Amino acid sequence: MTSSLYIHIPFCSNICTYCNFTKFFYNENLVYEYLKALEKEINQRYKQEIIKTIYIGGGTPSSLTLKELEYLFKILKQIKKSKNLEFTIEVNPDSLTKEKLLLFKKNGVNRISMGVESTIPKYLKFLGRNHDFELVKKQIALIKEMGFSNINVDLIYALPNETLEDLKLDLNNILSLEVTHISTYSLMIEEHTKLYIDKVKNIDEDLDFSMYDLICKTLTKHGFIHYEVSNFKKPNFESKHNLVYWNNEHYYGFGLSAASYIENERITNTNSLSKYLKGNYIKEVEKLSFKDTLSYALILGFRKIEGISKEDFYNRYKVELTSLYNIKDLLKMKKLIDNGRKISICYDKIYIENDILINFVGE
Ligand SMILES: C[S@@+](CC[C@H](N)C(=O)[O-])C[C@H]1O[C@@H](n2cnc3c(N)ncnc32)[C@H](O)[C@@H]1O
Ligand code: SF4
Repeated sequence: MTSSLYIHIPFCSNICTYCNFTKFFYNENLVYEYLKALEKEINQRYKQEIIKTIYIGGGTPSSLTLKELEYLFKILKQIKKSKNLEFTIEVNPDSLTKEKLLLFKKNGVNRISMGVESTIPKYLKFLGRNHDFELVKKQIALIKEMGFSNINVDLIYALPNETLEDLKLDLNNILSLEVTHISTYSLMIEEHTKLYIDKVKNIDEDLDFSMYDLICKTLTKHGFIHYEVSNFKKPNFESKHNLVYWNNEHYYGFGLSAASYIENERITNTNSLSKYLKGNYIKEVEKLSFKDTLSYALILGFRKIEGISKEDFYNRYKVELTSLYNIKDLLKMKKLIDNGRKISICYDKIYIENDILINFVGE
């Protein structure tokens, strides 16, 4: 049963130096064409299931004008929504207004995710961001004033020349915002970005680890629960939408380059805007064997700090979790831990979880 929906809005009012997401500089004519194509894709592919989580991401959804956002919500009127829907929209500090927040509220949005990334002027400049921390504080206050209590902010760390002291300042600033969820990302130098072209190098791995450790210790000390490798929540404020991914559940992805997982197919939409506007939405369909499905379930499920429930896993896939791959050996080696109900990656190995997850790829 597919009960989640991701929608990609590939427009930004500013292009950041590190970003290789599918996005274009905001253009009025293109946005309108895009929304028309999105409407057609949804009409064609959505099968009227009741939806429990919606996530509008990007790009920068808040870079659209009020009129364009109204059109987007009109398109979403046809979606059958569950009573306790989680409805998230990504926003950037520089394009958010009171009127847009009012419109979000009117249309059932109840979770706001803001790209803060850094709070230090020289790093914001390095990342090519168009805001400062003063604006972030103002916008978070406005979001709260408009009645939103479920707020995420994104932070990027491990920037060239960044020190642990810089990171401490970022964390303290972000904690002062009193939000309910924090996502943290170590900077990745991706192809096709300004940083890549400028040959910027990643920081030393030991420092990267010390930064990760500082983040985990600081945020948990301040009442956040570390519940996924990069994600921290206040009690009951987990991202239900992201949990759908980590629990290997099904979802639609509509829009340019969006990904869907429906029945036994992983579908990737085209990242060519011209193809998308002509109605050629889909680029690739990966048909999953049962073995592939299990592999995804492990790789995604072990991202959760609490790990995978043995009972739920058996009920869903009719195989014992401990019988798969080299799970028994990994338990003996204390890379995985079994608390009776759940198997998880040992907390002190979370930083090197990719070395463990590699065990679950392929035959
Ligand atoms: C879809 S992106 C952008 C959402 C929104 N447009 C923004 O800029 O905040 C979501 C998050 O991924 C993270 N991210 C994107 N590119 C990254 C990179 N190269 N390295 C680390 N984190 C990255 C950023 O924290 C960003 O906020
Ligand atoms: S990080 Fe966000 S705002 Fe910056 S270019 Fe990427 S999608 Fe756009």
